[in-house]
Amino acid sequence: MNTKAEQLFEMINARNSDGSLSDPAPSADELAFAIQAGLTAPDHHRLQPWRFQTVQGDARIKMGEVLRQALVARGETDEDVLRKISTQPLRAPLILICIVHPQAHPKVPVQEQILSTGAAVQNILLMIKALGYGAIWRTGAITESPVVKQAFGLAEPDIIVGFVYIGSLSREIPTRARISEDGFLKEWP
Ligand SMILES: Cc1cc2nc3c(=O)[nH]c(=O)nc-3n(C[C@H](O)[C@H](O)[C@H](O)COP(=O)(O)O)c2cc1C
Repeated sequence: MNTKAEQLFEMINARNSDGSLSDPAPSADELAFAIQAGLTAPDHHRLQPWRFQTVQGDARIKMGEVLRQALVARGETDEDVLRKISTQPLRAPLILICIVHPQAHPKVPVQEQILSTGAAVQNILLMIKALGYGAIWRTGAITESPVVKQAFGLAEPDIIVGFVYIGSLSREIPTRARISEDGFLKEWP
């Protein structure tokens, strides 16, 4: 294997999720750099179906209120559950909301646009890691809530595919052992 491939593998393999995230968040320039990496994802007919929104500072409290309202709209009455969800956005200094904004195209179904956006998110996660920060990709049923979509100014067909929590790492997570391709790859016929 050539050195470049080995180095790229090491970087990909070293990415891991961490929910223990604190200040500081990446700077605006660093975030822009990570988003630019995201925008290089494979994208059939270059539809650029992805959109990203950041939530930082006190806006995270507002976001918590939106998540709470979404659960209330769904019939949740347990005050502990409601309190818990309203504090979730405070788990990191920066939340990147990753959205598919589907484009009508005769040859590119929405499924492909979702996959493109997922690939963009992975590129962003890798770049966040390379910049020295940590992240975790979260979702949950709440992403489909009309209350949440409306609060973020999304249209009905838009799909939230991730709340990516980003911040500084407070601990070192050991790099995963290399995973064998056995059982996942076979030759046909
Ligand atoms: C689309 C998507 C949604 C996810 N949603 C959540 C979530 O809501 N909560 C969570 O703890 N992990 C969630 N995960 C999993 C974590 O992001 C992470 O990938 C997993 O814990 C494995 O850790 P690793 O990334 O270090 O391999 C999600 C992953 C994906 C791809």
